[in-house]
Amino acid sequence: MEYDEAESRRTERAYLSPEIVQQRARTLEIINASIGENIVDVGCGPGLLAHSLATAVGPTGSVTCVDSSAAMIGLAQNRCKDLPNVSYVEADVAKLPFDATSIDAVTCMQLLLYVANVKKTLTEMYRVLVPGGRLYIIETDWRSTVVHSNDDNLTEKIVSAWDAAVPNARLPARLGPILRDAGFESIQTEAIPLLSTDADPQGFAMSALKQCVVEAIAQERVSAAKGETWLDEFSDLGADDRFFFCVNRFLFTVLKPR
Ligand SMILES: C[S@@+](CC[C@H](N)C(=O)[O-])C[C@H]1O[C@@H](n2cnc3c(N)ncnc32)[C@H](O)[C@@H]1O
Repeated sequence: MEYDEAESRRTERAYLSPEIVQQRARTLEIINASIGENIVDVGCGPGLLAHSLATAVGPTGSVTCVDSSAAMIGLAQNRCKDLPNVSYVEADVAKLPFDATSIDAVTCMQLLLYVANVKKTLTEMYRVLVPGGRLYIIETDWRSTVVHSNDDNLTEKIVSAWDAAVPNARLPARLGPILRDAGFESIQTEAIPLLSTDADPQGFAMSALKQCVVEAIAQERVSAAKGETWLDEFSDLGADDRFFFCVNRFLFTVLKPR
């Protein structure tokens, strides 16, 4: 997926929805950033997490936003413009422009699904972390999608299109052993359900369902007309107060050994 200007803004809107706001609040609680820490947010997107982290670490700490999309870096810069302890790097996560053992914590939210070589990427994060440094990862498994639809077979066909759209759509269940192989220890995992009963067209749930349709049409699993009809049902359910959508995200907390 290319995060150009339009896609970056669409993601920003969806990530301001209540379910993702709640996910971020829980993530920040787990990270529990301290004054003076140096944190890197890889795949920072529109800078929503970075903004809160930069406030938490204070002026003696720093947050560096890394993203391969110029449009996303632009949104992060705009969001954090009043925070002088935030800096920005347009780079690929495969090669982080930081010295070895220089970073207290790395955050990596909804990024690894796009990465071809997860172990190599984790090894790069390991390299930059100080001994005892923390890595936080969030990934989604779309097989955990629960949605109210009158055509479950069609729903399965469309939602599973996401599996073929990115290299690692099913990472969460496999991630623990890969983290251990990369040298990390003390793996802790928790599920964060993103539950929505609101079919807001700009919200996370409808945005995710639209994305699945786009992929299903591109992969010729369904015709454009059938995809549109499937999507329309959710708007109808929403108007009737019968919309229901939930998908699980998984938060991993791991340490680099001291
Ligand atoms: C789904 S967004 C998540 C944004 C942010 N982490 C959040 O949770 O709010 C994924 C982000 O990862 C970035 N990204 C994807 N592949 C990347 C790569 N190889 N290196 C750096 N950033 C990447 C995208 O540009 C996008 O901003």
